[in-house]
Amino acid sequence: MDFKLLSFLIFHYFLINSSSIYASLPFPKQSLPTKSGYLTVNDTTSSAIFYTFYEAQNLTTPLSQTPLLIWLQGGPGCSSMLGNFYELGPWRVSSSHRQNVEHVALNPNPRSWNRIFGLLFLDNPIGVGFSIAATPEEIPRNQKDVAKHLYIAIKKFIELNKSFKDRPIYITGESYAGKYVPAIGYQVLKKNVRLPVRSRVNLVGVVIGNGLTDPISQVATHAANAYYFGLINDKQRGQLELLQEKAISLAKNGDWSEATNARSKVLNTLQNMTEMPTLYNIRRHKPYQNHLVAEFLNNVEVKKALGVNETIVFEVCSKVVREALHEDLMKSVKYMVEFLVKNTKVLLYEGQLDLRVGLVSTEAWVKRMKWEGIDKFLEADRKVWRVNGGLAGYVQKWRNLSHVVVLNAGHLVPHDQPLNSQAMIEDWVLEKGVFANDQIENLSTNLFDVL
Ligand SMILES: *[C@@H]1O[C@H](CO)[C@@H](O)[C@H](O)[C@H]1NC(C)=O
Ligand SMILES: *[C@@H]1O[C@H](CO)[C@@H](O)[C@H](O)[C@H]1NC(C)=O
Ligand SMILES: *[C@@H]1O[C@H](CO)[C@@H](O)[C@H](O)[C@H]1NC(C)=O
Ligand SMILES: *[C@@H]1O[C@H](CO)[C@@H](O)[C@H](O)[C@H]1NC(C)=O
Ligand SMILES: *[C@@H]1O[C@H](CO)[C@@H](O)[C@H](O)[C@H]1NC(C)=O
Ligand SMILES: *[C@@H]1O[C@H](CO)[C@@H](O)[C@H](O)[C@H]1NC(C)=O
Ligand SMILES: *[C@@H]1O[C@H](CO)[C@@H](O)[C@H](O)[C@H]1NC(C)=O
Repeated sequence: MDFKLLSFLIFHYFLINSSSIYASLPFPKQSLPTKSGYLTVNDTTSSAIFYTFYEAQNLTTPLSQTPLLIWLQGGPGCSSMLGNFYELGPWRVSSSHRQNVEHVALNPNPRSWNRIFGLLFLDNPIGVGFSIAATPEEIPRNQKDVAKHLYIAIKKFIELNKSFKDRPIYITGESYAGKYVPAIGYQVLKKNVRLPVRSRVNLVGVVIGNGLTDPISQVATHAANAYYFGLINDKQRGQLELLQEKAISLAKNGDWSEATNARSKVLNTLQNMTEMPTLYNIRRHKPYQNHLVAEFLNNVEVKKALGVNETIVFEVCSKVVREALHEDLMKSVKYMVEFLVKNTKVLLYEGQLDLRVGLVSTEAWVKRMKWEGIDKFLEADRKVWRVNGGLAGYVQKWRNLSHVVVLNAGHLVPHDQPLNSQAMIEDWVLEKGVFANDQIENLSTNLFDVL
């Protein structure tokens, strides 16, 4: 018998016999999403985006005012089920070993981002996770097409239930979603101006964690970052800088595909030089255990419970989608963030221990933002951020832009710092604690600032 099947059977047995609250599913009944299924993005081809939705656990506001967070995974090509079951969802996979067999189980996550907000995970773009791309040609190859499909999906989702209509919406995501989040945010705001109020998407903020947004300025930071972490010496720093410059010049020449390859070479070289188990978190002794999510979701009973055709094989990251976005990878969406910060709230956060897209990498483009508030933002005092008395990180904020450093976290911040990431998202959305609004300023000076 193969290990996976054995593991599943034992797990199944364990669930049925360990506690009466578990249904006879590998999925404890109360862990099921409030809703899950498909949002068709093309009626001709039936291509569709898969979603899971978890209503807020604790309604602290009337439903019509309870924020809805939308989460997008990065990659490009990785499934938001990673966010759902490994990072910020209300139930997460974990493994244990008994008699040399790995057992995958779901455990409640009290630090879920749906404690007081609704939480929607979208497998984006089509072809990712459980989403369906009718043909490979239909998979988006640029951010405009990614946004086109996401917009249709979000509109359809809102129509599923009257209660969704007026709720404040926040679009959040990680890593390559540093491209998707601005792209869909931009699309929504551009559409909103042309629509009557009742047809608008009530977008009030966007959130990017360890994001790739302006790759040309970001790829230039790896060598210095690794050097100051003490991971490479001066000579290696020079070697890495040469590779970085190559990626930059290729991108500047519009040789996008080669530029993406050159960036991969920078990261592979850094990996080879340091032999870190993973560049996603310099403190980890082994890579993040994403495969647990795939093991869990490839269970036939789990697929049935989620409304997925059991013939679909779940992959955490799709190579086909990654390839489709190969030429897009080094292209910037910084101008979209510049538009968003003028019209809505923006939160950028990074786990400090990420060598791929961390703090220095984000600062490199933030300080070059074209926004009337950027000087004020850069001048603002960096506040020490505490959660329940413990040091959680640092926050820099001016008006619509907040930037958070999350200590003791790598690329997957909600996985590494569940409590602090929950406190961050709740306080930022509700404008509490370190995210409270700046005091009303002296109006006359304020007028000059804006000029
Ligand atoms: C739907 O698919 C058809 C056929 O591939 C294509 O012509 C059309 O542009 C697609 N529509 C959207 C909204 O993607
Ligand atoms: C739910 O919200 C109420 C009111 O804010 C609070 O007192 C209670 O502790 C919350 N419960 C949970 C499980 O968060
Ligand atoms: C709409 O959402 C509310 C709150 O989540 C829920 O109580 C209700 O059953 C939903 N209605 C439908 C048709 O799904
Ligand atoms: C990194 O090391 C592997 C294994 O030795 C090798 O195959 C690969 O070419 C190296 N990559 C780079 C960019 O140096
Ligand atoms: C599942 O997918 C297979 C293969 O595409 C198809 O033949 C079958 O009808 C589908 N089942 C359901 C219930 O949709
Ligand atoms: C911040 O966003 C609001 C809209 O929510 C906008 O009216 C305001 O001008 C923005 N502020 C700055 C400084 O860009
Ligand atoms: C606002 O600032 C101006 C210029 O610095 C100053 O003259 C004025 O007294 C201030 N007003 C208040 C209410 O603080």
